[in-house]
Amino acid sequence: MFSDKNIIITGGSSGLGKALAHRLAREGANLALIARDPAKLEAVQYEINRGIRPGQRIVAISCDVSNYESVLNSFVTIVETLGRPDMLINSAGVITEGYFEDMAIEKFREIMNINYFGTLHCIKAAIPYFKEQHGGVIVNMGSIAGRFGAFGYSVYCSSKFAVHGLTEALRGELKPQKIKFQLVCPPEFTSPMVEDLNKYRTRENLRVAHTMPVMDVDRVADAVMKGLHKGRYLIIPGRMTRLLDLANRVFPLASRLIVDLQTKLAYRGPDKKD
Ligand SMILES: NC(=O)c1ccc[n+]([C@@H]2O[C@H](COP(=O)([O-])OP(=O)(O)OC[C@H]3O[C@@H](n4cnc5c(N)ncnc54)[C@H](OP(=O)(O)O)[C@@H]3O)[C@@H](O)[C@H]2O)c1
Repeated sequence: MFSDKNIIITGGSSGLGKALAHRLAREGANLALIARDPAKLEAVQYEINRGIRPGQRIVAISCDVSNYESVLNSFVTIVETLGRPDMLINSAGVITEGYFEDMAIEKFREIMNINYFGTLHCIKAAIPYFKEQHGGVIVNMGSIAGRFGAFGYSVYCSSKFAVHGLTEALRGELKPQKIKFQLVCPPEFTSPMVEDLNKYRTRENLRVAHTMPVMDVDRVADAVMKGLHKGRYLIIPGRMTRLLDLANRVFPLASRLIVDLQTKLAYRGPDKKD
């Protein structure tokens, strides 16, 4: 299915983006990996290059997706090097966690600029090329935190709810132009992002977030690949995640009661003292 396809993966140097890059390369895709840190990108490019077949191409482009000009220029370079993209996977993302009252307004802007505007910038940059070849697929990395609110995630949930809203709106709008959307909503999974988060997260957030089991990044990547192969619009990795997501839709009151109970059990009080 992906053999000889040109696929752009933002956030392709780490975590889920990197795990997908390995899988798609094994299926014969040409890849353009985007992230900021050139050293991490080159390391992943090197690893993948060792296992590819002759003629297959892996390019690595250092670009900050929150900068629209830089995204546009990167897409020109990619098209010149690989040709027009068939698929765009928006996996670049960052997280922050903490009490809303302590969270600087600037932090909201910073995370929105990467998670939401970064996704938007790449979609805008890709659409003219998709139109030229009468179609394409855009995979947006949302989160289960884009479907549930969680303690400490006022910044992150806002950015992921925004990504979900954008995806929902564009799914219908761009379908007539054969531009297809897929929305991935993983639960928490092991990755460098979560390793960093675990160094500082509040205990209330930990308790509420861990109502859902943490998945291994490889299991998440396998579930995403299955969803991509089947062309599913909504991809929610993990049976338990799907079950809790369904329960939240059908019994929202019960779901809120559970979350409130978890919060109460971990709550440190308004002064955040133990
Ligand atoms: N891990 C989880 O529990 C979890 C759960 C649900 C959803 N997600 C979502 O899944 C996606 C991947 O997460 P992950 O856990 O795999 O994270 P990760 O290991 O930290 O990887 C994030 C990737 O995004 C890149 N990136 C970050 N900011 C960027 C920017 N401004 N411009 C370009 N690239 C940027 C990073 O490279 P540089 O830093 O070098 O730029 C890195 O390649 C994210 O969208 C995340 O929100 C994660």
